[in-house]
Amino acid sequence: MIEPKCTLDVQAIRKHFPSITKGRIVTNNAASTQPPKKLADLYRQLSPDYENVHRGQSTASREMTELFEKAYDTIADFIGAPSRRNIVIGRNTTEAHNLVMYSMLTEFRDGDNIVTTMMEHNSNFVPWYAMCREILPKFARNVEYRIVNVDAETGELDLDHMASLVDDRTKLVCASGASNFYGTKNPVKKIREIANASGYRQPNGERKSWLLIDGAQLVPSTYVDVVDLDVDFMSFSFHKILAPFGVGVLYGKEHLLEQMNPFLYGGDMVGNGQVSPERVGYNELPWKFSAGTPNILGAIVSAQAFRILLDLALNPGEDVYFMSDKKIEREAVREAMDRITSYNCSLTERALEKLSEIEGLQIYGSKVAKRRTSLVAFNVDGRSAHGLAEALNEFGVESRAGCHCAALAHHSLVIPASCRLSFYFYNTLEEVDTAVDILAKIVREDIYAKTPFPFVQALAGS
Ligand SMILES: Cc1ncc(COP(=O)(O)O)c(C=O)c1O
Repeated sequence: MIEPKCTLDVQAIRKHFPSITKGRIVTNNAASTQPPKKLADLYRQLSPDYENVHRGQSTASREMTELFEKAYDTIADFIGAPSRRNIVIGRNTTEAHNLVMYSMLTEFRDGDNIVTTMMEHNSNFVPWYAMCREILPKFARNVEYRIVNVDAETGELDLDHMASLVDDRTKLVCASGASNFYGTKNPVKKIREIANASGYRQPNGERKSWLLIDGAQLVPSTYVDVVDLDVDFMSFSFHKILAPFGVGVLYGKEHLLEQMNPFLYGGDMVGNGQVSPERVGYNELPWKFSAGTPNILGAIVSAQAFRILLDLALNPGEDVYFMSDKKIEREAVREAMDRITSYNCSLTERALEKLSEIEGLQIYGSKVAKRRTSLVAFNVDGRSAHGLAEALNEFGVESRAGCHCAALAHHSLVIPASCRLSFYFYNTLEEVDTAVDILAKIVREDIYAKTPFPFVQALAGS
């Protein structure tokens, strides 16, 4: 049993979350986490001075602009990016992947390929599928996607297979930092080495494949330093990191974002005085990728989610980072995230241990908690995943059934769906016990939900 390295004062942390103090057992955190009260309140506090950014001379507009721009700095500091120029704020991880695809679209040469993996979320496969099969063929360009195998038992990427697929025509390698189905944490540095060794000739003269890491399940609970990992791009969504819905990030190396085409065209992404009937010049980074009025409050509140996360992990009673100008030091991020990783790992280990005692239950991915992020997907012989999730809900346990958008992995295992419990650092070992004990009872006593959703009834009837 892994003992949590100490360290998190979980009871103090839980007081910040109204949904939890209300008694919900939230074990569907890989989909979205719960917002602390302070972040929800921040929306309300900002609204009396509500104004657009970069579009007004009022004091309110100037102040809102300052808060908005500082959000970029906070995000950059938290993930170790050199500056705000590396940060694109958009709607979510999915949009970030689409941005990379559309902004690079014109760079793909006939005969190029892109390598992705069998454990990707649809958002890191479907855009590449569409690009290769639907968009580029219309321009008579033939680009293929290649998919790296995953070991069905361990949930680990087959790196030898990846190395065999990556060649001197591989423009981009795309992989999850952590899988939202197997839970596997991927060895990003090894993947970087494979991408570096490809010899692909990029238009700027560099000889390697670009690397896009989907950080949606990695950034919320693991220390990430984008410079140390040497990723070219990394995406993540704030609704999985305590913030309300609507904001996601693409980190990109500055020289790549400089060279890339803009994603969306329009206002604010153009340079001041640089639009004439003959010529349009683009704004400097990061505004080149911020066309139209952005989700201003969403961006401000989301960046504060990183600050509140530091406070909760390091000192849950105090606002040291939240809404302050305190510089975010790398050591503070490392300490906070290591505490969260270690604590989450103890939750996962308990879940793995107890789930494996349930007869007929199959866990997907590694049985070693340290190799995983804090989620466990499973099926039980003879029971539908949706039926289990519905029954769990009737006992007050929030889980998720479906393919979690990890459609390729479900396809390769030939399963229609799985049930998933996923934890965040406000969950307790007692909640894990309760969730699994209830699941065991449901299986043992063959309990079905009394009020299944209509689509579950449809599935049962089919
Ligand atoms: C690994 C992974 N990638 C991408 C996404 C997509 O995130 P979003 O829906 O915020 O775009 C998710 C969401 O579940 C995910 O788990």
